[in-house]
Parts: sequence; structure tokens; C-alpha cells
Amino acid sequence: MEQDHQSAPAVVRAASLTKSIRVEPMTCTIGAQLSHVNLGAVAEDDDLLAEVKNLFFKYRVLFFRDQDITRAQHVAFARRFGELEDHPVVGSHPDYPGLVQIYKTPDSPLERNENSWHTDATWRDKPPMGCVLRCVECPPMGGDTMWVNMAEAYNQLPEEIKFKIAGLRARHSIEASFGAAMPIEKRLALKNRFPDTEHPVVRIHPETGERILFVNGSFTTHFTNYNTSANIRFGLDKAPGSAQLLSYLVSQATIPEFQVRFRWEKNSVAFWDNCSTQHYAVMDYPPSHRKMERAAIVGDIPF
Ligand code: SIN
Repeated sequence: MEQDHQSAPAVVRAASLTKSIRVEPMTCTIGAQLSHVNLGAVAEDDDLLAEVKNLFFKYRVLFFRDQDITRAQHVAFARRFGELEDHPVVGSHPDYPGLVQIYKTPDSPLERNENSWHTDATWRDKPPMGCVLRCVECPPMGGDTMWVNMAEAYNQLPEEIKFKIAGLRARHSIEASFGAAMPIEKRLALKNRFPDTEHPVVRIHPETGERILFVNGSFTTHFTNYNTSANIRFGLDKAPGSAQLLSYLVSQATIPEFQVRFRWEKNSVAFWDNCSTQHYAVMDYPPSHRKMERAAIVGDIPF
């Protein structure tokens, strides 16, 4: 199924070369580029789908070039992993519910939420398990996306920090990110529709059982069960104690050793595990256009 990128594909299925997958790992910790594969075909082939699924959990982000697929095929591929969800602020394609249009042009509103490290929609009780993002229009240069492996970020934490954060929980909110630029009534209505939620700071991956550092700088606001006598002597300890620890944990996403960076082309696709990664869309390309379409697959309640 998998082979070194120097060698020939290890599996050439009986029918044709289009049913072999070539795998090129992109860094030591995260990401692989898959070729000899078409996502439209994967959506209709259980064996290919099972291969892609295994690689997905192994590499956390899979990259595909030259996916000249229709929107229906994009949706059909993502739907093989679960239901899709729309976004309350970023609109979906009118004919393809669940296909969110992340279109950036010089006319786009100034507020850009993608260029900060985040796991998608942790403000939901059930954040997406994965997302399939296709590039529809690329800037001539720039507009890369970066991903980070948050299981590795957890593994490499000092033992004393792992001990300190075991059992901690944190609040996640849409209000101060997507709601920040809204007039107060609109922001409160958004928050009313999507009340703040709470997740474990260290979640367990539902498929692999790995421990994952599950806080992010975009949506995580504070710990909800930190201020106990184990951590706090006087009131003064509260703010620096928990805020500094959260800020330290959030900063782990910025460690280059855990990251991969992808240069987009038209019809490139990235499929990422939204349980164990964060991503950051680099906003260095205005006034060029950048148009992406994303299918986010509904996930489970983190535990
Ligand atoms: C996202 O934040 O889900 C989109 C990332 C991107 O546009 O590269």
C-alpha cells in the first residue's frame, strides 16, 4: 500500500494504474502526498477508501494534486466519512449544502479568521472529525496552508506539564473570533445560537487512542476547572497561573518540528484529521484572489 517515494508503487491493483496509490511522506511528523489516485473514484470504491482512511490516520493530512473533480464528487468523497456541516458565518455553495466557500478577494471583508492557528469549529460541542479542502483559484504566489501535529505536540510536552494538565478542561467560543467584528446584537445572537462549549485539554483520538493537546489560540478562552486549591493559594495566582499555562499550551502549535506547509495549485486537495491537527492559512497574497471550498465532516464529542 505504501512505498518509499523513490521506488515504484508497492500496490498496483489488477485493473489499472488508477487504482494504485503512491505515498510520499512530506515531513518526519505530519503530512503525505498521495498520487495515482482520483478522489471521485475513491468515493465509489470501498477498497481505495479503506486505504485512504488508513493513510489519513497515519499522516493526519493527505495532499492530492490535479483533482479536477466536480463539486458533487468533492461532496461525495467527504460524505463517505460522515455528515457535512455548514458554517454559520462563512457561506456554503447554494447548490451544495456543506460545501463552504472560503473565497478571498480584494472585496472580502477585512476580517480574516483563517490566519491564526486553530482546529476547525472547536466552538461546537462536536467539532468536525476532518475536512476536505479544494483549491478552486490560487494566487500566483503565497496563500500556503500550514498544519501541525497536536498528538506530537502533546507527546513532547515536559512530563510535569502533562501531569498538570491531565483532567483540565477548557472553554471554547465562537464569540471572540467570528463574532468579534459584529455589532453587539448580532454577536450575542451568534453566541446564543452557538453557546460556548467545553472540551478536555487533552483529548483521546476516537480512532487511534492517542492523546492530543486540544487547545487553540483562536477559540479556547480559559480553563474551566483550574482555580482549585491545588493550583491557587491566593486570588492573585488565578490570572497569571491559568493564563500563562494556557498561553504556553497554545504556543506549542507554532513549533516547526511538528508542522508541514503546503503550496496550493488549482485542484489541489488537502484532507486533514481535525481531531489531531491545527492549521494556519498564510495571508500573504492580497490583493490576489484565493478561492477554496471546504467540506467539514461532523465529528464526535471529544473525550
Ligand atoms: C480553514 O481554516 O479551514 C481553511 C484553511 C485554508 O483556507 O487554507
